[in-house]
Amino acid sequence: MMRIGAIVDQVTGFIAERLPLDKMSYKSLVAKKEVPLHRMSWAYYMGGLTMFFLLIQVVTGLMLLFYYKPTVSEAHASVELITEHVTGGALIRNLHAWSSSFMIACVLVHMLTTFAMKAFDKPRELTWITGVLLLFITFGFGFTGYLLPWNQIAVNATKVGLQSVEELGHYLPGQMSKWPTLLRETFQGEASIGQSTLSRFYVLHVVILPLVLAGTLSIHLLSVQLHGMSQGVDEKPTRFERFFPFFILKDFKLWGAIFLGVFIVALCLPFEAFFAFPLAEPFNALGSTPEGIKPEWYFYFVYYPLELLPFWVVLLSMTVVKAGLFLTPWIFRGTSRRTLRLLAIAAATYLIVITLFGQDIYNAVKGVK
Ligand code: HEM
Repeated sequence: MMRIGAIVDQVTGFIAERLPLDKMSYKSLVAKKEVPLHRMSWAYYMGGLTMFFLLIQVVTGLMLLFYYKPTVSEAHASVELITEHVTGGALIRNLHAWSSSFMIACVLVHMLTTFAMKAFDKPRELTWITGVLLLFITFGFGFTGYLLPWNQIAVNATKVGLQSVEELGHYLPGQMSKWPTLLRETFQGEASIGQSTLSRFYVLHVVILPLVLAGTLSIHLLSVQLHGMSQGVDEKPTRFERFFPFFILKDFKLWGAIFLGVFIVALCLPFEAFFAFPLAEPFNALGSTPEGIKPEWYFYFVYYPLELLPFWVVLLSMTVVKAGLFLTPWIFRGTSRRTLRLLAIAAATYLIVITLFGQDIYNAVKGVK
């Protein structure tokens, strides 16, 4: 009993130190909030920008809900109705699709820059851990949203994704080997992808993930507010800028300029223009699987290794990366920002190369002309 009491005290003590709510006051949260000025100061905009893309997702997503129908027989037709007959529907749908990609790109840059700036260091461990959860939630939005238009690429790519989950079972011992199948069945809801899968993905995408995101983001932002911005560079910054009103006005200026850019892209470039025929056609359960089934670009970092390397190698690397992300504040406690910057640059280089050239690498390795 004593042991449990001591563990609970340790956990609550850890949380109380990371979320010092007693220090909350107008002075600390607003009047005294400052942003350090140094060569990495641009990185302090990335979290806000991610939040701005999230806001676009919420607003456009709610608008799409007015017309979208989450049934196997109507989903594709309702999406077509939005694109072709609803006033401004194509623009809203494109904004939602483009901004999801920009949000993921932004959250990755935000993660790499906060890592390089050692913003995860004590007392910001909780900010970092909630950040890692937000990253997974954001990927969860991408994975579940992809299925909703119920077209060929959506259903077939989701099938491949769910099959990969099941494959994990071959590498787990004893009873644990059944867990991935159980997980796949829970998400799929029936023997093969169908109405139950669509219903579950829909509920995850529009109810469960938004609720989990709202809770996690609240803790993330609260801890950022309570601790103020991190130092960011190895040498102590000597110049600072007041957050209210100066930094936040620059935030708004950046959001305005970015929105103009995204608006123009959404107006001129339909997201589906990137899908070759017949990938955007309604899913045909009786037809054969078309060529070119792939996940969204932001899953290429795991998709191409899965295509090229033995499954266990990718599984092991991803497990190490995931565990490493959660334990970052403890693993890299004594590491200099210079080394962290090099690691962040290496990770960014991998992500950019595999995303842009994954297909070429695949063709070269497999000898495809
Ligand atoms: C939905 C996703 C996310 C949103 C909306 C978000 C939002 C924000 C905002 C608004 C800030 C304050 C401004 C800034 O420093 O940029 C911030 C700070 C921070 N975020 Fe995130 N974030 C998200 C995901 C992540 C991820 C994936 C990580 C890392 C794994 C992360 C780690 C941090 C850290 C450590 C800070 C403190 C920065 C400092 O004190 O200098 N966040 N976040």
